[in-house]
Amino acid sequence: MTCWRRTLCVLLSGFTFAFMVSTAAAQSASLQALPPPATVKPALAKLGWHLFFEPRLSGDGSRSCASCHLPSRGFADGEPLSRGYNGTEYFRNAPGLMSVRLKSRLMWDGRLDGADLPPAVRDMVTDAHFMNADGRLIQERIRQIPELLALWREAFGAQSQPYGPQLFAAIAEFLKTLDGGDTLVDRVLRGDKVALPAAVREGMALFSGKGQCIRCHNGVLGTDGKAYRLGVSENPAIAQEPLRMITLLRHHATMGVPNYMAERKDLGSYAVSKQPDDRGRFVTPALRGLPHTGPYMHNGMFATLDEVVAFHDQGGGPGSELQPLGLSARERKALVAFLRAWSAPMPPMAEPPAYDYWLAGAAR
Ligand code: HEC
Ligand code: HEC
Repeated sequence: MTCWRRTLCVLLSGFTFAFMVSTAAAQSASLQALPPPATVKPALAKLGWHLFFEPRLSGDGSRSCASCHLPSRGFADGEPLSRGYNGTEYFRNAPGLMSVRLKSRLMWDGRLDGADLPPAVRDMVTDAHFMNADGRLIQERIRQIPELLALWREAFGAQSQPYGPQLFAAIAEFLKTLDGGDTLVDRVLRGDKVALPAAVREGMALFSGKGQCIRCHNGVLGTDGKAYRLGVSENPAIAQEPLRMITLLRHHATMGVPNYMAERKDLGSYAVSKQPDDRGRFVTPALRGLPHTGPYMHNGMFATLDEVVAFHDQGGGPGSELQPLGLSARERKALVAFLRAWSAPMPPMAEPPAYDYWLAGAAR
């Protein structure tokens, strides 16, 4: 098996790490180097790795977590808007999952607490527009696969039986092993003497200086976990494709948005807090691994980092909380060079076997 990322290699070879890493990474107005890998229970994370690629976790067996969070794309999917379960379409971009263990808020509107990953996994499995599966049904499906049952018992004990909440915990344990690799930028942040290419060095200085990026994009991942309105325009596909609009309206209804039928734009954090100031605010995204995870923004409206930086430079769109920056073309390029340098290559991730009966031919 190809070893992928330090933590996964370690858990597959059965060691545990002595490091304890707090999930609530210290967030101050500075950038920080990637901390050591998380401590995980190897048998649990190994089971989670199998389940992450397992299409039997979706209602009709058509997709796994990896269908929308592709390892080769930093665990994003490369689409502006996520596809959604068959018969639905989603209205937001699928975020990458690298170092998701260090995020303080989850989902573009911040509706879930990052310190607790299993509820996010549960929502992905059970929500009608993601995998549309019933927890009790999938625990029976897992029970039918001798290889998975054996892994289950390694993780939870010889007499244990597959059980929904533990299944979500196993996948969450696997998610904790997904860290981006070490970058030149991390080495600089650790105080190593490394020679950065001139454009990267200039971009790094602009990030904390004239560009003011550090105000919101700080800490280990480049996010303060708070929500802001940048005035990104609506993705026209949402109004044009009824299945996407229906999922948006259903989301607003589920969140208890007053008069939701009249709310045909993505309300962002307002749908969570119901505070009028939060309309159109989205949580500051993490900035590691960006070359793998485009298109960008909550609705995939920008295909390239050049467009994203130009948009920030002009002070965003209508109602934005950004100020115009007056950057030169050279400075914008330097910022993009810095963002690219804050990313490591994505080595291919080994996939578990597809078990040779029911659903063996289904899309993975
Ligand atoms: C049909 C596509 C799809 C599938 C399948 C899917 N996801 Fe997601 N995932 C998304 C989208 C889209 C979001 C963002 C939703 C939002 O912000 O409203 C998301 C968000 C997340 C987040 C929060 C990330 C962050 O940075 O806030 C986690 C964690 C996650 N998914 C894990 C999983 C796991 C584990 C599975 C399998 C059990 C899974 N996903 C299956 C599309 C999918
Ligand atoms: C006021 C807070 C704030 C400041 C300052 C800020 N950003 Fe952002 N940035 C955000 C938010 C919020 C988003 C997501 C907006 C959305 O999707 O609607 C974002 C999105 C991005 C993205 C897209 C990431 C992705 O995965 O989609 C990049 C890249 C980015 N910002 C870089 C920068 C750079 C470079 C600067 C400095 C020139 C900067 N930002 C300044 C808040 C900020």
